[in-house]
Amino acid sequence: MKFLYFVFCFSLVTLITSCNDDPKNPGYEYMPDMYRTASYKANSSNPNFKDSMTDQKPVEGTIARNQAMPFAYPKSNDGYEAAGKELMNPLAKTEINLTEGKRLFEIYCIHCHGSEGKGDGTMVQNGKFPPPPSYSNQLKDLPEGKMFWTITYGKNLMGSHASQLNQDERWKIIMYVQTLQKLGAPTVTSSGDSAASKSTKDTSKIAVSQKKSKAKK
Ligand code: HEC
Repeated sequence: MKFLYFVFCFSLVTLITSCNDDPKNPGYEYMPDMYRTASYKANSSNPNFKDSMTDQKPVEGTIARNQAMPFAYPKSNDGYEAAGKELMNPLAKTEINLTEGKRLFEIYCIHCHGSEGKGDGTMVQNGKFPPPPSYSNQLKDLPEGKMFWTITYGKNLMGSHASQLNQDERWKIIMYVQTLQKLGAPTVTSSGDSAASKSTKDTSKIAVSQKKSKAKK
């Protein structure tokens, strides 16, 4: 009986004390630090640092792990030429890298450059974009450093792909582009009415205009 009385009193006290008018008041919390961590939230002020900011800047002159190394070649004609002479692919030419390069090419480049890099991607065939030069023709001797520079900064009509592709990914794609460079020049058929041969002709026109624009720089 005493026990029942105790249970009754306990429930009554709990009932009275656990109700609260303030809907935002959580009432008693069992181990509140399990709900609310002691850590500071991002963008909050912080008394532990001199500048009283929780988000601290990286130490000057340091590069975080897995972050891109700074690209030493400037966005200028000289930078482009220097990259062409000095910049080499740091990755090993393995089957895995090449396969990954092909996969990335088919995501980021194929719609303009075409599956064989001849400048006849779907964007070009649909008339949405002028044909880029062919890897195996006008660009067959293009050094890898220049390719890296172009993917990083963009060049004329081609935009920068630096935000989509990290440096390793760029080198993997370049590895694949180099296999396309070796495919040989496209042959222009005499019939001349197929989409492929049409774009081949367009490509050579563009190449001429590109030579002109290069000379201007
Ligand atoms: C929107 C269409 C488009 C896309 C997407 C595109 N390119 Fe290009 N690319 C071009 C055009 C146009 C040029 C010719 C630029 C010029 O005027 O020299 C070009 C030129 C190039 C060149 C020659 C650069 C040089 O130094 O002369 C390379 C290499 C190249 N692209 C690689 C790629 C790779 C790799 C990708 C995918 C990551 C890619 N492109 C995506 C349109 C595109």
